[in-house]
Amino acid sequence: MNFNTNFNDIAENYLFAEVADRVAAYTKAHPDKKILKLGIGDVTLPLAPEVIKALHSAVDDMSNAATFKGYGPYEGYDFLRKNIADYYKLNGVDLELSEIFVSDGAKSDLGNILDIFSKDNKVLVPDPVYPVYVDTNLMAGRKVAFMDATAENGFLPMPDKKTDADIIYLCSPNNPTGAAYTKAQLKEWVDYANKRGAVILYDAAYECFISDDNLARSIFQIEGAKTCAIEFCSFSKTAGFTGTRCGYTVIPHGLNKDGLFANKLWFRRQATKFNGVPYIVQKGAAAVFTEQGRKEILQNIAYYKRNAKIIAECMDRLNIWYTGGTNSPYIWLKCPNGMKSWEFFDFLLNEAQVVGTPGAGFGKNGEGFFRLTAFGSEEVTKQAVERIEKLLKN
Ligand code: MLT
Repeated sequence: MNFNTNFNDIAENYLFAEVADRVAAYTKAHPDKKILKLGIGDVTLPLAPEVIKALHSAVDDMSNAATFKGYGPYEGYDFLRKNIADYYKLNGVDLELSEIFVSDGAKSDLGNILDIFSKDNKVLVPDPVYPVYVDTNLMAGRKVAFMDATAENGFLPMPDKKTDADIIYLCSPNNPTGAAYTKAQLKEWVDYANKRGAVILYDAAYECFISDDNLARSIFQIEGAKTCAIEFCSFSKTAGFTGTRCGYTVIPHGLNKDGLFANKLWFRRQATKFNGVPYIVQKGAAAVFTEQGRKEILQNIAYYKRNAKIIAECMDRLNIWYTGGTNSPYIWLKCPNGMKSWEFFDFLLNEAQVVGTPGAGFGKNGEGFFRLTAFGSEEVTKQAVERIEKLLKN
């Protein structure tokens, strides 16, 4: 047998696994030190009470032969898909239930979706961006081209005469920079993709952090997107499901070529390789869309946004350049004193026991930058900010 040698082309460790390893090594060497983690975007607030209520009730369903559930539909239960469709309607988007696929999270789908595309597609990825897009393509033996996301273009690359891509990844609000496309900007991408016959893989995992109405919450708010886009979303950041695992992918029936339909191919792929998300989890996810559930998760999002403000105000006081934090839970900052990303990571860990994510892990344009997450507890965020300020003030 031979292993997949494409693994030789990717970094030995996934970015957040590398961060975790370095933190574990530090903890082992300094067991007395209290580490404050603002690295991986993992939530800290518990699930909303309305979600917990639904989970409990779903557990009870499983204890009774009349309501017990075995294998569920590959694409998710209708009760959840209907709630998702109703949510899209609030943003002016009409979806058929058959266009919605429930999954165990956006990360899995973003990687797995490549199964439906041929090897020879030209892939275009913003730099910096969530590393999953690049790693999954390299694992599959595809070459990846990059488009620069820099302070000059507001970290929002646009198509131009030289753009030459069949599969285009967009992440908005962006992880890690927090930059988000306006509807007018997305229209340019949709027009490009339709003209070219390309597909946009649109990661909307941070949609719930958008507070500006000019920004798109879904690519399907843009006319023409239903013939050129697939959207990935998640309950992780919206409703604290990072450990509970649930997300969804929207694949419109209009996305097709040469008699092949993306929606059908994905259904075929999922039915072959995936047995669906647990009924109990889907019941919990459905509760996110009830009036009370919505109220509760919005309170949690407001809590994280306050944390983002606490971090941003610290950067203001320190005169450190940063962006993000308004329509996103991440603050993207320039490492002080010309430090490189991993250098600043080590400095912050060693001198203040604060963990962040090195910008270089998101791409070459991330070098010299650093990401702090607002998903910590308020207490940890305030302590971390205090330590950072003390360390960098002089
Ligand atoms: C992040 O910190 O970028 C995310 O939490 C990682 C993920 O969603 O996989």
